[in-house]
Formats: sequence, C-alpha cells, structure tokens
Amino acid sequence: MSNPDEKAKGRLTTRTVAMPSDTNPAGDIFGGWVVSQMDIAAGICAGQRAQSRVVTVALDGMSFIRPVKVGDILGVYTCVESVGRTSMNILVECWVRRGRIGQREKVTEGMFKFVAINDEGKATPIPREEDLPDYVNNNFHDH
Ligand SMILES: CC(C)(COP(=O)(O)OP(=O)(O)OC[C@H]1O[C@@H](n2cnc3c(N)ncnc32)[C@H](O)[C@@H]1OP(=O)(O)O)[C@@H](O)C(=O)NCCC(=O)NCCS
Repeated sequence: MSNPDEKAKGRLTTRTVAMPSDTNPAGDIFGGWVVSQMDIAAGICAGQRAQSRVVTVALDGMSFIRPVKVGDILGVYTCVESVGRTSMNILVECWVRRGRIGQREKVTEGMFKFVAINDEGKATPIPREEDLPDYVNNNFHDH
C-alpha cells in the first residue's frame, strides 16, 4: 500500500490504460511497456525544455515498485531535475489508478537523461530558462 500522503513529483504528462496486449506471460504488465511510456513522457518534457529534437542517452535509478495490472490507468509525471550544456535529467514517476477507479499508487520511478540535438543529430545547446516561451515556463512552475 502506498503512503497516502505521498504526492506525485512533477507534472502529469501522459495518461493511458494498460491493455491485455501489454502483459507478460504471468499476466502482469510487461516492464518494457512501462519504461516505454516513461520514455515517451520524458521526451515530451525534455523537448519542451530544449525547444528542439531530443534523444534518450541514459536511464538511471529505475525502480519497479509495484506491478501494473490490466485496466489500470497509468499516469506519467515528469519534471526537469537538472540541465547541463546539451543534456538534461528528467525525473519520471508512474502512478496508477487501479482498475480505472481504485486506489492511486506509485508504481515506478526513474531518471532519464536526454540530449538536445540539431537537424544533423548532433548535440546542441539547451536555451536558458528565461529565454523559453511563457507556455513552457508555466508548465515547469506549476508543480
Ligand atoms: C546523444 C548524442 C548525439 C551525443 O553525442 P556525443 O558525441 O556523445 O555528444 P557530446 O560528447 O557532446 O555529449 C553531449 C552531452 O550528452 C552527455 N552524454 C552523452 N552520452 C551520455 C551517456 N551515455 N550518459 C550520460 N551522459 C551522456 C554528455 O555528458 C554531454 O552533456 P552536457 O553537454 O550537458 O555536458 C549521441 O550519443 C547519440 O546519438 N546517441 C544515441 C541516442 C539515441 O539514439 N537514443 C535512442 C536510443 S533507441
């Protein structure tokens, strides 16, 4: 059972329903599917921060805390943890609503590192936060 006082870190970036086609042989949701959902959401967050194409370069501290079940609503929360010259760390947490309406629980967390790239696929500098459009800054300040 998750701590009822614990809150998701970051901003709700994607929501989806875990389907029967996403299960492993034991009938629980396949871990690779969850990581894929996390990578998609982290890429949205990183792309907004970088205002460019981004690629995943590393994944640290991935924890599978509880299983995801068919029918759970999976909400993926993201926040920009730190920004380097061309890379950034995106903290990602997945929370489920069991069977669409039940208890809300944190199921995974991990730190995804993305690099901003240009049209040639080369690393490119990330803009300063103060140079971002308002809608991006608002996104990053509402959590
Ligand atoms: C991302 C990529 C363009 C970087 O190229 P590169 O020649 O390593 O570029 P750099 O050496 O200038 O490094 C760029 C930044 O990425 C960081 N970085 C690169 N590889 C990294 C790794 N494996 N782990 C952690 N950080 C890494 C560097 O520290 C640097 O950060 P900074 O600019 O904030 O200081 C190249 O590694 C790449 O294309 N990788 C494949 C990405 C991909 O296809 N992902 C999807 C996999 S299916």
